[in-house]
Amino acid sequence: MWLLFDKDPVRGDRTRRYLERQGVAAQVVTREEEIPDNGRQAAVAVFMEGWNPATVTRVKETFGVAALYCALDGVTPEGYAELSQAGYDDVIPYPPSPEYVRQWGRRASEQAADRVSLESLVGAGPRKTSYTHLDTRPFAEKPTPRRAKVIAVTGIKGGVGKTTLSVLIAGALMAKGRRVVLAELDPQGNLSGLLKLDRVVTVDRFETLPDALSDPELEQNMLRTEGGWWLIPKGERPLGLSRDGAGRLIHLTGQYADYVVLDTHASRLVSTLVGLQEADVVLAVTTADRTTWTDLRPFLQATDKPAYLVMNRVREPRRRAGDVALFLSRETGYKVVGLVREDATLYERVQQGLVPMGSRQTGDAVRAVLRAAGVTGGDSEASVEHVKRKGWWKR
Ligand SMILES: Nc1ncnc2c1ncn2[C@@H]1O[C@H](COP(=O)(O)OP(=O)(O)O)[C@@H](O)[C@H]1O
Ligand SMILES: [Mg+2]
Repeated sequence: MWLLFDKDPVRGDRTRRYLERQGVAAQVVTREEEIPDNGRQAAVAVFMEGWNPATVTRVKETFGVAALYCALDGVTPEGYAELSQAGYDDVIPYPPSPEYVRQWGRRASEQAADRVSLESLVGAGPRKTSYTHLDTRPFAEKPTPRRAKVIAVTGIKGGVGKTTLSVLIAGALMAKGRRVVLAELDPQGNLSGLLKLDRVVTVDRFETLPDALSDPELEQNMLRTEGGWWLIPKGERPLGLSRDGAGRLIHLTGQYADYVVLDTHASRLVSTLVGLQEADVVLAVTTADRTTWTDLRPFLQATDKPAYLVMNRVREPRRRAGDVALFLSRETGYKVVGLVREDATLYERVQQGLVPMGSRQTGDAVRAVLRAAGVTGGDSEASVEHVKRKGWWKR
């Protein structure tokens, strides 16, 4: 049984039913006074926002359970530090995943015991059973020059096409015969599933790898895809890589590859911020939908590198789409370097469990984005010309 602390009873009940469907019994607590006497039978306590740290500590100590903070949105590094100061043992994304939380639970035998163990009477703290975070070693960047161009693909919304664009970019760069690494920094991604690769290595390895590796050593920590580029799939850490881990990943792959593509999560995870700062160029994916770009400006201000917008899933006729792109540039202060049209083949392939390839038009659009953002080929002015000729850059 889980204790689910949620001051919002409606959401609490919804979460409870969600967990029930996954075979987890949960008891919702909406107020301090409702903390049940049978709390000792709980495997874990999950808290939504707004609970007093004193309550958190009391629950942990009285019941001997781990306290997990369940975050609706991404948590900043500072937020993470604050939460662990407030007594939380871990931060997990909403909705809580039973599979992940299980790691924090008490062993079934302990749970079943009617007798109160001496250990819990003397106030044993929460037990971490099988799961331990690998400790991050501090990462000291060496002055070795980076060889790769690092492209951070980001955005402030899920489902806008960050992963799709990352894969298309990797394919387009691979077609030029270059060494390409795609790092899945999104802890909720599923690129290995899509590419049908076993996640025998993940980005998590970069938390503990040495700061210098030979090429063959590094290749042991990546998966070769059918397309020929290398994938480093997402890991188990619910909030993604630490600052050190992300820094080391970019540093190591940056010495190895010609291009490193970072597929980030749509929120201010530490790894997203490191990606934004370390990248040579940032591509923020939006759609015409307002929610995908209204808050983009402050988000992109986290980087002082060139940042551009790519409008994806464009359905409007070319002229109208051009107007939208111009409007978007004015509103956000960032230039739109490309339009990728709604492409049914992308979605269909993904539905069929195939790697998204895109139509010829989509391929052209992606190559144009890479040129216009200065990733490949001539200078960016020339590419703007190219974009202008396409017609939509004109006022
Ligand atoms: N231009 C496009 N046309 C049609 N479908 C697209 C396009 N771009 C992305 N999609 C589809 O949208 C869905 C979400 O894309 P994804 O790349 O996973 O987004 P994100 O990584 O931003 O969450 C996927 O099913 C993908 O196939
Ligand atoms: Mg994605």
